[in-house]
Amino acid sequence: MKDEIVYKRLSKSDKPNIDNLIDICLKGLPRPEFFMPLSVEDKERFYDESYGIRLGAYDGGKIVATGGIYVAESKLEKIKSMLDLNDKKVCSLCNFLCLPEYRGRGIMSSIQSQLIEIAKDMNYETITATAHPENIASMTCLSKKLTKVKIADFNGYTRALMKLDLKTN
Ligand SMILES: CC(C)(COP(=O)(O)OP(=O)(O)OC[C@H]1O[C@@H](n2cnc3c(N)ncnc32)[C@H](O)[C@@H]1OP(=O)(O)O)[C@@H](O)C(=O)NCCC(=O)NCCS
Repeated sequence: MKDEIVYKRLSKSDKPNIDNLIDICLKGLPRPEFFMPLSVEDKERFYDESYGIRLGAYDGGKIVATGGIYVAESKLEKIKSMLDLNDKKVCSLCNFLCLPEYRGRGIMSSIQSQLIEIAKDMNYETITATAHPENIASMTCLSKKLTKVKIADFNGYTRALMKLDLKTN
C-alpha cells in the first residue's frame, strides 16, 4: 500500500542498496536511452548534498525508489543556458528510479512533490527537468507540475526540457 512507504533523505549507508536499485532499474529499461548513464563519480556523489539532494522511498528496510535534485552549478550550466535561465537560481530534478514491482503507485509523483517543496524552502526560483519525450511514466509525472519548453539534444540524448517557476507556483 502507498501509505506504508516512508520517504527520507539518503545517507551514505544506503549506498549498497541504491547501487542495487540502480542496477535493477537500468537493466530493465524499456529503452536504454531513457536514462542517461551514471558514472562511478555520479554514484559516489549521491550522498553529497552540495551536489544533489536525494530522497529514498523505503518499504520497511528496503529502498524501493529514489529521485533527486541537482544543486551543483556544474550540473546546471547547460540546462540554464538552453532554457535561458542564466539569471535565475535554478536546481534540476534528476535520476528518478523505482523498482518495477513498486511502479504505478504514485511513488515518483510523491518524491517529485517533496523535492519541489525542498527546492522552494531553499529559495530556488526555478526547477527544471529533462526526460526522454517517449518515456511515458516520466513525462506523465513531470508534466503534472512542470511545463515542457522544447525538445532538444541534451548531452547527446533527445530530451524534453521542462521547467517550473517556483516563485509563482
Ligand atoms: C519513471 C519511474 C521512476 C516512475 O515511477 P512510478 O513511481 O511508477 O511513477 P508514478 O506511480 O508516480 O506515476 C507517475 C504517473 O505516470 C503514470 N505512469 C507510470 N507508469 C506508466 C506507464 N508505464 N504508462 C503510462 N503511464 C504511466 C502514472 O499513472 C502516473 O500518472 P497518474 O498519477 O495520472 O496516474 C519508473 O517508471 C522507473 O523507474 N522507470 C525506469 C527509469 C526511468 O525511466 N527513470 C526516469 C528517468 S527521467
